[in-house]
Amino acid sequence: MTEAPNPAKMSQDPIAGLEGVVAATTCLSNVDGQNGVLVIRGKKIEDLAGLVPFEEAVRHLWQDLGFNSLSAIKNSFAEARQVAFGVVSLLESSPAELSIYEHMQLGLAALPLKGDLPEAIAICGALPVFLAASHRISNGLQPIAPDPSLDTATDLLRMLNGTLPGASEADALNRYLVTILDHGLNASTFTARVIGSTQADLKQAVLGAMGALSGPLHGGAPGPVLDMIDAIGRPENADDWITEALARKERLMGFGHRIYRTRDPRADVLKAGLKLIGSSNPKVQLAEEIETAALAALRRVKPHRPLDTNVEFYTAVLLDAIGIDRSLFTPLFATGRAAGWCAHVLEQQKTGKLIRPSSHYVGPKPE
Ligand code: ACO
Repeated sequence: MTEAPNPAKMSQDPIAGLEGVVAATTCLSNVDGQNGVLVIRGKKIEDLAGLVPFEEAVRHLWQDLGFNSLSAIKNSFAEARQVAFGVVSLLESSPAELSIYEHMQLGLAALPLKGDLPEAIAICGALPVFLAASHRISNGLQPIAPDPSLDTATDLLRMLNGTLPGASEADALNRYLVTILDHGLNASTFTARVIGSTQADLKQAVLGAMGALSGPLHGGAPGPVLDMIDAIGRPENADDWITEALARKERLMGFGHRIYRTRDPRADVLKAGLKLIGSSNPKVQLAEEIETAALAALRRVKPHRPLDTNVEFYTAVLLDAIGIDRSLFTPLFATGRAAGWCAHVLEQQKTGKLIRPSSHYVGPKPE
């Protein structure tokens, strides 16, 4: 018997950008856009980032995976880095024109997932290895093998630069990776859940999510944020530069958000990290002055839309201050967010329901 169509489900009016549509039930994270609050599994982001290492935040998010201690999850991540290093030779022989991001996708596609490690750990542990190795390969340097005695953030910086980082650099990277761990049903997480809902492999869902993250309206913004800071160059240029950009209908990278109608709390968590590293980087002060000018200009030019600083603005400034090249910003975002993607896919797969919305056909009718 054919099921009677449900008129409530048959609306022909698509909701632009699915804005306001609730498409999943989750216990992983909640974004309160009116009040500027981000909760990760019952904890405010301010009570995690800067206070716990990346692995502990992942353990908190992945309660279902049953890691009962910080050392247990750290050891599993360390083992995953070593497994991933076995794939690095593939990156060395790949076409030179591939970006670091594409190298990471290539490494992930080739990553062996058979063994004792949970797939989520194997994937999330591998991404820092591919990122560091790819960066070195593209600079004509030898990839550096992981050190299983180190935590993820420290080892990532060591594999990138060839020397052990100072504690403040490692702390800043930990703070960053925790800050961006998970964030509701953003575009890449939704992509991961859609792929996961087909019961595809976790790896395929993470590869697809990486594709969604790469765009400048999502995770691709921090590189352009730094380009903007460089183009402005001096605080006294900020007003004119920003006013002209807005007059050309350009978007200011690092500002605005689909959900937040106030300040993105992650921007302040990262800004606080800058204070802690006591950076003497002249870009930091310039960035703060640009932020003030941008907020004033956005209020003037877009009075109908509350637009404030988002996570990407201080991501760019913080990562630059600890010496991370701008070509690595989006790859690093993927490295931290992969833990959130995996958690969402596993949660989605528990419901077993395929995500399959409808579209409103406006094409020609058949003769
Ligand atoms: N600069 C200038 N104007 C903006 C900006 C911005 N950064 N963001 C939004 N607006 C304006 C739009 O021009 C539009 O104005 P209009 O009503 O006069 O046409 C209005 O605000 C609404 O824009 P939408 O595109 O409908 O808003 P949406 O919620 O879809 O956009 C987005 C969110 C894509 C993040 C947007 O704010 C943007 O493009 N920001 C810049 C890129 C960026 O920083 N991305 C990182 C986001 S954080 C993350 O994904 C991790």
